[in-house]
Amino acid sequence: MSLIIATIFLIILLGISVLMAVCTIDNFWRTVVVQNAPFVPVPKKIIPHIVNALHINQGSMVYDLGCGDARILAACHAQYPAAFYQGIDVAFLPRFLAWIRLQNIQKPHTITIRKGNFFKEDISDATHIFVYLFPKVMDDLLPKFQKECKKGTRIVSCDFQFKHKDPVETIDLRRSEHALGRRLYVYEM
Ligand SMILES: C[S@@+](CC[C@H](N)C(=O)[O-])C[C@H]1O[C@@H](n2cnc3c(N)ncnc32)[C@H](O)[C@@H]1O
Repeated sequence: MSLIIATIFLIILLGISVLMAVCTIDNFWRTVVVQNAPFVPVPKKIIPHIVNALHINQGSMVYDLGCGDARILAACHAQYPAAFYQGIDVAFLPRFLAWIRLQNIQKPHTITIRKGNFFKEDISDATHIFVYLFPKVMDDLLPKFQKECKKGTRIVSCDFQFKHKDPVETIDLRRSEHALGRRLYVYEM
């Protein structure tokens, strides 16, 4: 009996180890090799500020490009359930965590999480976009935003700004110098 339990335990341990190895390699590949922003979620404390900065309305189409574990979309949905939400993420681990999060949300049909590279996805129906990426990725994304986004699309970026576009508003979150999530940059297309 104890041999069976030990075998089951070993199989579970092996499964977890394989999953962790896959996630680590996946994240390493996406960040170091493909040079994308790694999965670093925004600090929970600043989420209400992000939700407020977005100015979501009934019927808004809100994107989180590189949605991570969907914490921003879930927080927005809790406050504005009559809007629509799309998250795109290239990596497996954050999408898996997002899927778990969505299991705890009532009426989650207005939130969609997609696997994909946001550079290649059509975002022309966006009214609001949230990003927490890298400066280089921001600059690479600007031409896409300028080409695809409707006039008036509101973009909120945590910590990183465009080199060649001025924000309409900068929100200082008054956090300590080395903290993540110190400023929000608000743009309008
Ligand atoms: C810094 S995390 C931000 C996560 C989430 N938006 C948040 O604020 O908590 C960046 C996320 O972007 C994803 N990402 C980076 N480059 C991407 C790309 N080209 N296409 C889709 N997702 C990407 C990463 O996998 C990671 O989960």
